Amino acid sequence: MAFPPQFLEELRSRLALSEVVSKRLRLIRAGREFKAPCPFHNEKSPSFYVNDQKGFFHCFGCGAHGDVIGFVMRHDNLGFPEAVEHLAGEAGLPVPRPTEEDRQRYERRKTLHDLVEQAARWFEQQLHAPVGRPGLDYLLRRGLDGDTIARFRLGYAPGDSGALRSHLGKQGFSDEDMVNAGLLKRPDDGRAPYSFFRNRVMFPVTDRRGQVVAFGGRILEGDGPKYVNTADTPLFHKGTLLYGLSRARQAAADGKPVIVAEGYMDVIALVRAGFEGAVAPLGTALTETQVQELWKLIPAAEKVPFLCFDGDNAGRRAAWRAVERILPHLAPGQSARVAFLPEGEDPDSLIRAQGAKAMGAVLEAAIPLSEALWRMESEGRSTDTPEAKAAVKAALEGRVSAIADRDVQSFYRTEMRRRVDEAFAPVRSGGGSWSRPWVPGQGRGRFGEPPRRHVPGVPGARTSKPAGEGRGRASRLALVRERILLATLINHPELFGELAEPMGLLPFSDPELEKLRWTVIECLSDEANGDSTLDAAALCRHLSSAGHDTMVGALLSESTYIHAAFARPDASPDDARKGWWPAWRHLHHERVLDDLREAKTALTRDNSEANFARVVALQQEVIKSGLGMTDDGDFDDA
Ligand code: UTP
Ligand code: MN
Repeated sequence: MAFPPQFLEELRSRLALSEVVSKRLRLIRAGREFKAPCPFHNEKSPSFYVNDQKGFFHCFGCGAHGDVIGFVMRHDNLGFPEAVEHLAGEAGLPVPRPTEEDRQRYERRKTLHDLVEQAARWFEQQLHAPVGRPGLDYLLRRGLDGDTIARFRLGYAPGDSGALRSHLGKQGFSDEDMVNAGLLKRPDDGRAPYSFFRNRVMFPVTDRRGQVVAFGGRILEGDGPKYVNTADTPLFHKGTLLYGLSRARQAAADGKPVIVAEGYMDVIALVRAGFEGAVAPLGTALTETQVQELWKLIPAAEKVPFLCFDGDNAGRRAAWRAVERILPHLAPGQSARVAFLPEGEDPDSLIRAQGAKAMGAVLEAAIPLSEALWRMESEGRSTDTPEAKAAVKAALEGRVSAIADRDVQSFYRTEMRRRVDEAFAPVRSGGGSWSRPWVPGQGRGRFGEPPRRHVPGVPGARTSKPAGEGRGRASRLALVRERILLATLINHPELFGELAEPMGLLPFSDPELEKLRWTVIECLSDEANGDSTLDAAALCRHLSSAGHDTMVGALLSESTYIHAAFARPDASPDDARKGWWPAWRHLHHERVLDDLREAKTALTRDNSEANFARVVALQQEVIKSGLGMTDDGDFDDA
C-alpha cells in the first residue's frame, strides 16, 4: 500500500544520501560530490557519483541512477516498502499506519484497476471475434496493421448492451464497480445498467504506469458523437492525464521530442512513424495540469514540448488558447514550441500521405512560444492609427504580465517591446523616401510566399554565392547527392529541358563540383539555344576541353554509381529522372534547413524586422520543401 507522499518527502529530506551510501561503500569526496567505484557494475576507477544537494546518485559507467530509496532497494536488494521501512528506522521516523479509510480506498482502486483491465482484454477479444469484424475492417481500412492494433490494445465494443456486464459479472465484479469505472450506465427508471460504449472501436487509455484506466470509443459510421470517452472516475481524471503518457515518458528519457497532437489516431500514427513521445489530451483542450505533466516528464534542462495544431483558423485559435494557458507557468528553460500542420491535415493524415519526414519538417518549422505570443496579438489587427498600435502594445503587455516567473516575464517584456518598436517604426527604403510602415499580420502576406533565396535556375544566371566559394560545411550525404545529381545530368543531357531550373537553383557546396555544375549548365543551355543536341559523349568532350577532365572522370565512376544506379549511363532516361528528383528534393530540403538555422542565428544577433520576416518565410519554406519529399530513400547509401 502506498505511503503518504508527505511522509516520503520527510524521509528523503532527513537522510543525507552520502551518509546512507557511506554506510555501505567507501566514498571519496570530489568537490561538492562524492565518488566511488560503482557498486552496481564491475569497475576499478570510480564513476559512481553521489550528490547530496540533488539527492541522487548517478553512475556514468552503467547509468544506474536514483534517490536514497532507490539506492537501498538496489544495494540491499529490498522491495520499495521494505526499503522505506528500513530507512525510516535509520532516520528515526515512525512509519505511518494506514487508516481504515486508506485501506478501503486502496482496495477499491485495486478492484477498479482489475475491472478495467479485464474490460480492455474483453474489448480486444471482441475485435477479433466475428462480432467485431466491422471494427477490425474499419481499423485495417485506416491503414493499421495487426502489430499496431495489438501494441495499442485496440478493441471493439459490440452493440449488445448487456454483453460486457454479463462477462464481467461472471468474473465476480459488481454492477456498482462497473458503473463507477464508467463502463456501465444506470438508467433513471431502475432497469438494469447497460454498456456505455456500443458499436465502437475502443482505444484504451493508460495512466502514468501504463495501467488501463479509461477508454475512448470511436463510432464507425452513422449518427452520434465521433468519439465518446470515459467520464471522470476514481481512477481517471481527463484533465490531468494524456493519451500515450507512459510511452512518452520513456521516449523523453531517451531524448526523443515530446509532441502534443489532438487525437488518438494522431498519437498512433506518430508513434508508428518513430515519434514515440507523442501524446494527446482526452477529448478536451490541453489543460495547464497536462502541460505541467509534460514538463515533468522531460528530463533535460530545456523542457520544450511541441504543440501541434491544424494550419487553419480553428487550429490557430486553438494554438492561441494553449499559449494563453501556458504563459503564466513559463519558467527558466520551461516553455513550448508551436507547430502548424498544413491546412486540412492532422498528423495521422500527413504521415499517411507524405511520410514521417513531412512530419519532421513540420516540427522543424515550429515557432517559439514568444513568437506565437507576438503573432497571436498582432496578426489580423489593424494598426494604421496610433491608437491601434497602442492597443496591440497594451494587449501584449497584459499577456506578459500574466507570466509568474519574474525573470521570464522581464525577458518577454523586453522582447515584445522590441518587436512592437520595430514593427511600428517607419522604415527608410533604399531610395531615401519613407516607405509604408510594415503592418503586422496583414492577411497572408507575412506568412505567404517566401522570398526566393537562390537565383532561379534560368541557365546563365549566377547564384547568390560566386562559384568556387562553396557553402561551408555540408554533410557527407549532401556531397554524395550533389555528385549523383550532376552525374545523372551529364549521362542524360536529354533531361536538361526538365532539370535545368532545379539544377540552377541549388548551388553546390563542393567548390570544384560547383564550377563543373556551371560549365555543364552553360554548355547545355548554349546548346539548347542552337538547334543541334549534345549527347553525353559530346558533352564530356566539351567538359574535358574546358579543363574538367579529372573531375568528370572522378564523378562518372563507380564511386558515384554505387549510391545510385539511376545515375549510370546505361540507365533509362525515365529511371534517371525518377531517381533524380527525390535526390534533389532531399538536398533542397537540407539547404532550406541550413538557411533557417542561419536566419535564426541572425535574428538572435539582430532582432530586426527583416531578419524576423526571413525566419518566418523560411519556416514556411521548410514545411513546403518537406512536403515534396517522399519517404523512400533517394539513393542506395552503401
Ligand atoms: P478529431 O475530430 O480531430 O478526430 O478529434 P481525429 O482524432 O482526427 O480522429 P479520426 O482521425 O477522425 O478518427 C480529436 C480528438 O478529440 C476528441 C478525441 O479525443 C479525438 O481523438 N473528440 C473528438 C472527442 O472526444 N469527441 C468527438 O466527438 C470528437
Ligand atoms: Mn484524424
